Amino acid sequence: MSKQNTFKLLLDLSTFMTLLIVSAPRATGDTIHEWLGVALAGAIVVHLLFNWNWIVDITSRLFTRPIKGHLFNYTLNLTLFVSGIMIILSGLMISKTVIPFFGISLPQNIIWRGLHEFFTNIVMVLMGLHVAVHWSWIVNMFKKIFSINSAPKAVMPSMNIQRKDG
Ligand code: HEM
Ligand code: HEM
Repeated sequence: MSKQNTFKLLLDLSTFMTLLIVSAPRATGDTIHEWLGVALAGAIVVHLLFNWNWIVDITSRLFTRPIKGHLFNYTLNLTLFVSGIMIILSGLMISKTVIPFFGISLPQNIIWRGLHEFFTNIVMVLMGLHVAVHWSWIVNMFKKIFSINSAPKAVMPSMNIQRKDG
């Protein structure tokens, strides 16, 4: 398996685990919740950079050729992206740790809290679909890791052939 795919798999797995932890702020406390949330935003930017070719390709085709086979996935990814932005934005607007850390004070508005919760729920559903769409990729990557570790090393018969010419 290529180094890039190994890195992508590790990034996807750790991003997913972080998402699960961040969605339980009562278990972690506010401080961990907020900083992990910011770190998660960074991990998702890296994830999107890895998939940049796909994003540019499908987006440019939107206005030229039809993208039939990709329409569902494109809409799903776009909605996921917008909802992710809304979680981070609303999270920063109600922040008690990260924003004050930078000496900034924002006007408080109860609406941001509601939006934060609403988009968290949306992302949980969309993330389930996103993982389902990529399930075979994830399983294939795991299979490749296993075959590297457990497959017997190929023996090349030619290695044992000795020349007997005289
Ligand atoms: C806001 C969050 C996210 C957005 C906007 C997003 C978007 C994308 C996009 C645009 C692609 C490439 C197009 C495609 O094949 O569908 C992709 C691929 C993929 N995403 Fe995400 N993604 C997000 C979070 C995650 C998370 C948390 C996981 C963890 C399970 C994940 C797993 C994958 C996998 C396995 C692939 C295919 C292989 C790869 O390139 O990594 N994504 N994602
Ligand atoms: C994907 C990232 C995030 C997810 C899934 C998420 C999820 C949640 C959830 C489920 C709650 C509890 C809502 C409730 O009980 O009504 C919450 C509360 C909160 N979140 Fe986030 N959040 C994320 C990112 C952030 C970020 C980046 C910040 C700020 C920098 C933030 C700040 C807060 C604050 C201040 C609360 C209120 C905590 C309290 O009052 O006890 N969140 N978040």
